[in-house]
Amino acid sequence: MNEHDRQHQILIQQATASAAQAHESVSKDYYRQGFHIMPQAYFMNDPNGLVYYKGEYHAFFQHLPFSVHDGEKVWGHVKSKDLVHWEYLPVAIAPSQSYDRNGCYSGSAVDDNGILTLIYTGYIEREGDRTAIQMQNLAFSEDGIVFHKYENNPVISDPPEDGSLADFRDPKVWRHEDTWYMVVGSSKFGYGKTLMYRSENLRQWDYIGVAAESDGSMGQVWECPDMFPFERDTHVFLTSSLIIENEAITGGKNLYMVGSLNYEQGKFNSTFVGETDCGLDFYAAQTFHDGLGRRILIGWMDWHAAPRIEAVSNWFGSLTVPRIMTLLPDGSVQFTPAPELQQLREGHQHFEEVNLQEGIRGAWGDIVGDCLEIIAEFELGDAEPDAEFSISLRRSELHDQETIITYSSETETLTFNRDKSGSGFTGSKSCSLLPMSGGRIKLHIIMDRSSVEIFMNEGRLVSSNRIYPHPNSQGLDVYASKGTVKLKQLDVWKLKRVTL
Ligand code: FRU
Repeated sequence: MNEHDRQHQILIQQATASAAQAHESVSKDYYRQGFHIMPQAYFMNDPNGLVYYKGEYHAFFQHLPFSVHDGEKVWGHVKSKDLVHWEYLPVAIAPSQSYDRNGCYSGSAVDDNGILTLIYTGYIEREGDRTAIQMQNLAFSEDGIVFHKYENNPVISDPPEDGSLADFRDPKVWRHEDTWYMVVGSSKFGYGKTLMYRSENLRQWDYIGVAAESDGSMGQVWECPDMFPFERDTHVFLTSSLIIENEAITGGKNLYMVGSLNYEQGKFNSTFVGETDCGLDFYAAQTFHDGLGRRILIGWMDWHAAPRIEAVSNWFGSLTVPRIMTLLPDGSVQFTPAPELQQLREGHQHFEEVNLQEGIRGAWGDIVGDCLEIIAEFELGDAEPDAEFSISLRRSELHDQETIITYSSETETLTFNRDKSGSGFTGSKSCSLLPMSGGRIKLHIIMDRSSVEIFMNEGRLVSSNRIYPHPNSQGLDVYASKGTVKLKQLDVWKLKRVTL
């Protein structure tokens, strides 16, 4: 171990000890999730380095280990055998060198012949200048726990002409035939871009070209790009985009594109563009290929502008549940919750063929809970083209608190409304959703202590949201908010809590 390495390991021990010490009081907070990845304490943002390594799932994440508000980002680390029970591991990498002194920013991981290799962005602030320098670096581990930075970092120190110094981050690496490829997020003149590189050995990289860029409507800065070979000879490209207006970030977009990739020219051609998630709290999703031949996505179930409600209890941030991606016949992508989550189910209740009528509420009094899985299938008849149905979650006894999901057949939209959800942001968000054959709408809802993920119509669209209701608000209601609607089936399970 050289002196740099020793310094790095000391910083790692300090960071790990800080989050672990705060964990005891943090873990008492009611809003801690039951089965989602969260930081032990303090701040989390993007998932990083998702990888299946030596028979286990590893997830790293952007993490502030000393404060819930500010500081320099390290990579937090958890692993799991089944995508459900996660175990905290020591911090993997921390800023310790001139090339990453203000943060180890997002990146990816690969298994290089048994060496778990992290590829990440080193972030350096420049005094008196708002732009920062970003470089791509490597760190290696033989046991998947202790990481050593590569002595010849950075492996890419300057962006190419096509990119910009201010935005050059979040390398995603994958192997195709015998070569490594990398995409890096960037921007130029207000257009989000993704730059593509190739390498024989992960250490020397050659720039190939701009793999994809915004058409003007897809965000000004592209962060956390992800490119991978997918089913039926396609490639899928994912990007998390910042929308910037008058130099201020006003929103984010999560897009996926299905198409083909020309490896020689580094050009991606998309044939389908869709939204990875249309909820209020979702950003920076990453995917990986697991040991069972599946492509799995995990996103950050928050967003930089979120109100950070749980920060009063010294923690902030949750990832989504793992989602399996598959290609549908129409060329779009389906996202479904990993089936491993079914082991959390207990106390099943089932109902079928119920006619819901406007004005009748509260018919499901005995279904209560704050960690629930709900699968509901509705049928909308042709006779009432403006019928509407709703699912009310986390409803208080006095009905002054509830989170409402409403489908309108008139507008063909599903609206998530958290105006009366409790603490946090109010407001609502609608997603366009066409009924399936026979006028059917199917909603698969996974509700944890402070989140609601809605998988619509077999995962054609997903909406991820955080909520902070009172612990006593635990009621559920399913009702027609306009006209008459048939509830074909309703299945509800309570979900066990397994995380701390
Ligand atoms: C996305 C992002 C990345 C960056 C990281 C820093 O949320 O801004 O582009 O690497 O967060 O924490």
